[in-house]
Amino acid sequence: MKIYNIILVFLFLLPIAFAHLRVGFYRRSCPSAETIVRRAVHRRFKHHRFITANLLQMYFHDCFVRGCDGSILIDPRVGNASEKQAPPNVKLDSFELIDDIKRALEKACPSTVSCADILILATRDAVALAGGPRYSVPTGRRDGLVSNPKEVNVPKSSFSVSQAFESFKAKGFSLKEMVALLGAHTVGFTHCSLVRGRLSSFGRRDPTMDPALDAKLVRTCGSARRPARNDPQIVLDQNTSFVFDNEYYRQIRKRRGVLHIDQQLALDNSSRRIVAGFAANGESFKRNFANAMIKLGSLEVLVGKSGEIRKNCRVLNHHH
Ligand code: HEM
Ligand SMILES: *[C@@H]1O[C@H](CO)[C@@H](O)[C@H](O)[C@H]1NC(C)=O
Ligand SMILES: *[C@@H]1O[C@H](CO)[C@@H](O)[C@H](O)[C@H]1NC(C)=O
Ligand SMILES: *[C@@H]1O[C@H](CO)[C@@H](O)[C@H](O)[C@H]1NC(C)=O
Repeated sequence: MKIYNIILVFLFLLPIAFAHLRVGFYRRSCPSAETIVRRAVHRRFKHHRFITANLLQMYFHDCFVRGCDGSILIDPRVGNASEKQAPPNVKLDSFELIDDIKRALEKACPSTVSCADILILATRDAVALAGGPRYSVPTGRRDGLVSNPKEVNVPKSSFSVSQAFESFKAKGFSLKEMVALLGAHTVGFTHCSLVRGRLSSFGRRDPTMDPALDAKLVRTCGSARRPARNDPQIVLDQNTSFVFDNEYYRQIRKRRGVLHIDQQLALDNSSRRIVAGFAANGESFKRNFANAMIKLGSLEVLVGKSGEIRKNCRVLNHHH
């Protein structure tokens, strides 16, 4: 009886939570939309496996700022700055993949599929290609009309778990959902400049870091006296860096987290049990990750007649 009531409440609330977003939104208006995206992502992934990480970080930075409205894709113009110029975004990559997909979609169904949805679908497909979960994702987002670098306030890697959770809680996430989303750091890279503060060669070694990892990172990043040139990249997952699996959680439990926030996740009393759970059960991680991604993808979206369907993901239509 109780369970029945809960299910009923859930069924009534679902359409409110995802107002106007629905799985297969383009089934009638552009039946080939999801296939076009999937093929383009697959073609690129064969030679550029790093697109999974590029797209995941882009998805997070799009959805956390003004919701998932493609605002991250707008290029700066003379007299118009854009989110791309905010410090956390300057190293984002793979915008050309979104452009390629948009061009193909404009040919098949002009002015129909939003750039915001392209990013959502392409990321979903790239995660699956890297070994991650396969899931259906609701579509029907519209593209936003504002992209302001001053609005970009994604959490910093120097944050504590409770500081990071403050920004996720404000968006309606549970701690478990935040821990699952950070599992995206199972792929991709960071840069020496963001990790130096934890290394023995730049001052004091962070005691929470495995000394063997410290030695390895010192070889890549150099020292305060002789820093490596051009800010080298470092993999976030020290074992299976290109595979979307739960190895990230196992590595941080071995003190092999690279970013401060990653290491803290495994140590903090509030999150370490969740980390242990995901480290022990890869299927549970993937299920929780997919659900949290769908939720992240539904934040503050524009639907119906709001916003627009951009013709070029880098430019607002009226600027053409
Ligand atoms: C507390 C939350 C988070 C913090 C503080 C954080 C911080 C960072 C930092 C500092 C980097 C390295 C950037 C660089 O060196 O250029 C990074 C990379 C990355 N982040 Fe996060 N992140 C967070 C949450 C997320 C979430 C929720 C996702 C996706 C669901 C995500 C996906 C990624 C990916 C895939 C990369 C690698 C990008 C690449 O190699 O292209 N992160 N993150
Ligand atoms: C560009 O600037 C104009 C006014 O200067 C503003 O109305 C518009 O929203 C800006 N474009 C973006 C993408 O923010
Ligand atoms: C690397 O990952 C694989 C697959 O999860 C695991 O079997 C292995 O023990 C890991 N190795 C290390 C050194 O962590
Ligand atoms: C975790 O809890 C233990 C006691 O249960 C306490 O001694 C320790 O300082 C706590 N650690 C953190 C990082 O809060």
